[in-house]
Amino acid sequence: MKERPKLLVTCRVFPEVIEHLRPHFVLDGNATDRALAGDELLRRAADRDALFVAAGDRVDRALLDACPRLKIVATGSVGYNHIDIDACRARGVAVTYTPGVLTEATADLAWALLMAAARRLAETERWLREGHWNTWTFDQFLGADVHGATLGIIGMGRIGSAIARRARGFDMRVLYHNRTPAANAADLGAQRCALDELLASADHVVLVVPATAQTHHLIGARELALMKPGSVLVNIARGGIVDDAALAQALRSGRPGAAGLDVYENEPHVHPALLDLPNVVLTPHIGSATRSARLGMAMLAADNLVAWAEERPLPTPVPL
Ligand code: DGY
Repeated sequence: MKERPKLLVTCRVFPEVIEHLRPHFVLDGNATDRALAGDELLRRAADRDALFVAAGDRVDRALLDACPRLKIVATGSVGYNHIDIDACRARGVAVTYTPGVLTEATADLAWALLMAAARRLAETERWLREGHWNTWTFDQFLGADVHGATLGIIGMGRIGSAIARRARGFDMRVLYHNRTPAANAADLGAQRCALDELLASADHVVLVVPATAQTHHLIGARELALMKPGSVLVNIARGGIVDDAALAQALRSGRPGAAGLDVYENEPHVHPALLDLPNVVLTPHIGSATRSARLGMAMLAADNLVAWAEERPLPTPVPL
């Protein structure tokens, strides 16, 4: 009988996912209280044929060098900027990811952040809890309109399209910026434009592009200065696409007027200047955090590993 390959699961996942993997692998994993990192990760990965990782794990040359038997890395995330794809390719290591299963949940969070930042939900809730509410006035906590406004979506892929679809219910005009025209743009009533034009014309801007060398600091001081006073910037994509220090500076000047952020340059550390601002809503990378989306992501990563173990085609390999 063929020996079962050895798998390390670097993070805590649902028990049913482990049960799905168990018949196919010799398992070391399902870390219960923390993600594996540093020397411990290198040591435990060293004799593994397969790795199940998450967005917080760095799969870099040092890790790959430490794992001479490694054949496959399955990440339970749609983003794969934490994996050195070129180094995996050079070593013949397959990489899989989880597109599709988290699209709607992540689009929901983009909307939650947009609404919360535009209507100052976090700031007003803190104020109420602190006991400051003693009267009602016409000019109290005025926010920005979302309905009827112009929404700019930077990155019209699966998640961008799901965000645009929701914008219809709010009677919004939708602009988008993409390297290539989106096939579904006409159906979504979305109009393609250059980045600077989008930033200057949109009342609110949502970032949904992948993190690559080209998108690093795509939104810096110059781009933020193009945004309308009082506008809202939402980042549910990846840290590093926005220059967080420049954003904190820009938020102080009211251009943009507010931000909703789920991702940060140096996760899990958040730029201290952002923590000090009332006009930014901060969430800890929870875009996909519903049970169905997270279970879908973990199961799809496991499906890829099982397919590999059974020598079947991988369901969702990272496009080469
Ligand atoms: C993803 O899947 O890339 C989400 O950001 C969760 O990590």
